[in-house]
Amino acid sequence: MRNVLFAPILLFGFWSCSRTQEVRLIPKPVSIEHVNGEFKIDRNAIIYADRADSSLYESASYLVTLLNQKGIGCELKSSVEGNPSVNAILFTRTNCPDSLGTEGYLINVEPNRVTIKANQSAGFFYAAQTIRQLMPPDFEKADFKANSVSIPCLKIVDKPRFAWRGLNLDCCRHFMTKDFVKRYIDLLAYHKMNVLHWHLTEDQGWRIEIKKYPKLTEVGAWRTNADGTVYGGFYTQDDIREVVAYASKRHVMVVPEIEMPGHSVAALAAYPHLSCTGKPLAVETNWGVFKDIYCAGNDSTFLFLQDVLSEVVELFPSPYIHLGGDEAPKYRWENCPKCKARLRKEKLSNYEELQRYFVSRVAKFLETKGKTIIGWDEILEGGRPHNAIIQAWRGMDRAAEALSANAPVIVSPTSHCYFDYPVEVINLEKVYSFNPIPESTDSAKLCLVLGGECNMWTEHAPQETVDSKVFPRMLAIAEVLWTFPKDRNYEEFLNRVRYHYSRLNALGVTFGFEQSAVEFKSTICNDSKAIVIELIKGQDNLEIRYTTNGDEPTAKSLLYRKPITLTQTSTVRAAAFSNGVKVGEVFERSFTISKSIGKPIELGFKPSEKYMGGGLQALVDGRLGTPKYNDGIWQAVQGTDLVATIDLGIDQPIGSFSIGFLQNIPSWIFLPARLDVFISSDNVTFTQIAQLEKPKNLKEEGVLLYRYNAILVNDIRGRYIRFVAHNPGPCPSWHPASGSPTWLFADEVVVE
Ligand code: ACM
Ligand code: ZN
Repeated sequence: MRNVLFAPILLFGFWSCSRTQEVRLIPKPVSIEHVNGEFKIDRNAIIYADRADSSLYESASYLVTLLNQKGIGCELKSSVEGNPSVNAILFTRTNCPDSLGTEGYLINVEPNRVTIKANQSAGFFYAAQTIRQLMPPDFEKADFKANSVSIPCLKIVDKPRFAWRGLNLDCCRHFMTKDFVKRYIDLLAYHKMNVLHWHLTEDQGWRIEIKKYPKLTEVGAWRTNADGTVYGGFYTQDDIREVVAYASKRHVMVVPEIEMPGHSVAALAAYPHLSCTGKPLAVETNWGVFKDIYCAGNDSTFLFLQDVLSEVVELFPSPYIHLGGDEAPKYRWENCPKCKARLRKEKLSNYEELQRYFVSRVAKFLETKGKTIIGWDEILEGGRPHNAIIQAWRGMDRAAEALSANAPVIVSPTSHCYFDYPVEVINLEKVYSFNPIPESTDSAKLCLVLGGECNMWTEHAPQETVDSKVFPRMLAIAEVLWTFPKDRNYEEFLNRVRYHYSRLNALGVTFGFEQSAVEFKSTICNDSKAIVIELIKGQDNLEIRYTTNGDEPTAKSLLYRKPITLTQTSTVRAAAFSNGVKVGEVFERSFTISKSIGKPIELGFKPSEKYMGGGLQALVDGRLGTPKYNDGIWQAVQGTDLVATIDLGIDQPIGSFSIGFLQNIPSWIFLPARLDVFISSDNVTFTQIAQLEKPKNLKEEGVLLYRYNAILVNDIRGRYIRFVAHNPGPCPSWHPASGSPTWLFADEVVVE
């Protein structure tokens, strides 16, 4: 998706002469002191770096190569060969303060000399990246040529907030070419990010060549879709060495993720004897969580994994190997004689502990190879496996749990860091508000927060769409992880982002939107008899047009000028237009006016932090859910009943009660088995007024929105209405995640 909303204004034309840049760096440095004047880099400039000191010589060579590619043929000299005087760019460690750490740097640009100081190679490399961003944006164009470029005189002091600044690329659900991965390494480095978390094995594809087990890629790298088409691909070991070497030159550590015990259907399709049933399986073509996982009772599983990892550790110099560990249903283990025997033999009390045994056993093997493991936060469930680093994804509370277990943590919650989620759910501002440190973290434990990552899962993102999901949001993550909070401000960041688009354009990045082109904000008013809808546009130069009669909005529909007041249940459909042309999709929201909107509600459950539905009033806020479970309207709870009591304010007749639920079975979202409704006048004694069973004949495929609706024929009066939506219990035996706790997702109560 090419961004038409934010197409930047080209500030620089052809480079017949040099012009100095405004300084708008991303991520923002610790300090910038502006000084008058500029330094001109042309073919008379000499870059001095001590050849004997590879840590600075490499970054100096990198800069010279970059300049030479653009036609600015400056010279690289070892500083021992002469005393730099004018037109000099000097790389030096002399008098560099220790406080800059391993990645910090200083840049001092004067009219006739640039001095770059750092303690270690990463610092010199990041200084070179900053120099790039001091140049005109067009410098980044592949075909940019000039005789000279100028950079402004200034002093920069800089160092990062966190050591771990990563992007997780899922190259399994959709394959990405080697060149595309290398391009992302460049984009990471340009934004001072330093970890590529490379997700290489999945249910839907095994993407890394393992010499000892050729079927992993002969079979496991290819999936056959229902229409007979075959999709896949993999990286040879030579490809991987090439990518890792490329990354290493750019100070990006590549951490491979080899998933276990779950998300392993592709491996089991290649080698079925590694599963609990031993039955043949096909590489998965659906998205989800699947119950066939590596058998934990079978010693050949561990021998296989040790062989695989022995080849993996030779390819990746990173001291860390990510073992996944997320979303591993225990159903097969619970029904497998070998797994049961393992549980008894190892004196384990449940299957979460068996997963801990599994992960620890592999972690101990990897320790003999000098590697530490990382796992998703589920691996804490049976107790922290051997020396594991935790990657928290299900919420900040999981990061806090990791810290309680004294485990180092990489923080990447779905709330802020999942770039597969649409911008309607996680917009640029939301990402920028990410704080990787859990609330009330003890200062002694701060050092355990290594940093964070953004996750680019690709179920719904083929390679050609990845840019539009990662950018501009990765700019926010880069700054959150690099820049200290006291130096950050969203408005000011946004200003730099808008400027940075010209650099992204020059780099050929097809960035997406900052936020939804249209956002809805609703307020209940007029004593709960009306809802006022504000439509907020994603960019100033757009206009919004809308309908309330169900029609598709067109350039001729009503122009949004002021908030819309709804006095009856309605659907608002809105779209953004630029010069009469629709930009992006049509956004649709339905609102209901009923006796229950805006009334106090007491929840008898704790809504999931991930699916709050906008707050504790979500079930009576007048907003009806959409088919997307992460639309911010649905309120959800996992593994328990959904119970609440609404106070209607006064005793009154009640003619009907309904509540909407979502069903999305592959995502573990089920309808309640039963709904009980009660009424009371005093909030003490309740009388049951309805009992609704889940209908038997509902379809189970796809997404379904269903309302449990009780028409109350007898004269029923009351002030308090309580309902209990009964959780249907764990995912049934036929479900891929059999045995896992199910979700209930509710949107809105309607009382008439
Ligand atoms: C995850 O998103 N399953 C780590
Ligand atoms: Zn088993």
